[in-house]
Amino acid sequence: MGRIIAVANQKGGVGKTTTAINLAAALAASDLQVLLVDCDPQANSTSGLGIPRKLGRPSLYHLLVGDASVTDVLINTQFDGLSLIPSEKALVGANIELVDVDDRERQLGQRLDPLRQNFDFIILDCPPALDLLTLNALLAADTVLIPIQCEFFALEGISELIDTVARIRENYQHPLRIEGVLLTMYDDRTNLTKQIAADLREFFAADIFETVIPRNIKLAEAPSFGKPIIAYDVRSKGAECYIQLAREILTDDRPAA
Ligand SMILES: Nc1ncnc2c1ncn2[C@@H]1O[C@H](COP(=O)(O)OP(=O)(O)O)[C@@H](O)[C@H]1O
Ligand SMILES: [Mg+2]
Repeated sequence: MGRIIAVANQKGGVGKTTTAINLAAALAASDLQVLLVDCDPQANSTSGLGIPRKLGRPSLYHLLVGDASVTDVLINTQFDGLSLIPSEKALVGANIELVDVDDRERQLGQRLDPLRQNFDFIILDCPPALDLLTLNALLAADTVLIPIQCEFFALEGISELIDTVARIRENYQHPLRIEGVLLTMYDDRTNLTKQIAADLREFFAADIFETVIPRNIKLAEAPSFGKPIIAYDVRSKGAECYIQLAREILTDDRPAA
């Protein structure tokens, strides 16, 4: 049975999409079947895998609020073992269109549950908001992976996300676990980064991944070529680190939170 991991942080620009694409690709490269679900109307995971934003075919939006089936929306990417459910701008409407639907927070989970048999991992790339789409992703997921950029306001808003996780456990009786907190765009040449990393390690303790993602220009370039980092430049530091993150998740010997 596959594990569903939501990559979430309501802040934009912290490395959610970069992590979702490259973790998914690194897991797929370990001979696993992986599905990446682009839950963000900005569709950066979709374009980052070389799929055009103007799809001309059903997307996650049609799966959630229309009558498209999973087979209608699922795309086999050009990367072995990696499938995608794409997004598009229209998905932003789902936040409103789902409001009157029964079990509106569980729509994504209901659609994805049958796919657990087909995939080892399902990675959900969340939008930069604690909206209904993110709520759907968190309720569909077994675990949440939280990327945090090592900058001055790193912890701002994190308590809101942690509160949301706690609320999901209580109000929905959904045993959502923390997969881990990932330090992104890490630059160990600056004292500020080191200080912030130390603060985060104190705050999150065992939940922090040992793997840290450095600032690496290749990671920023890869999406414009429609490729995950391991296909764009497998020898880059960025590729090495996302492969290491995949390994850390597969080993999973950290204490469960
Ligand atoms: N480790 C990194 N090194 C360099 N650039 C990065 C790194 N991670 C992300 N970026 C760049 O930072 C920007 C925001 O990252 P992204 O993954 O899109 O964040 P989010 O999905 O949280 O909004 C993008 O332009 C991306 O290419
Ligand atoms: Mg994103």
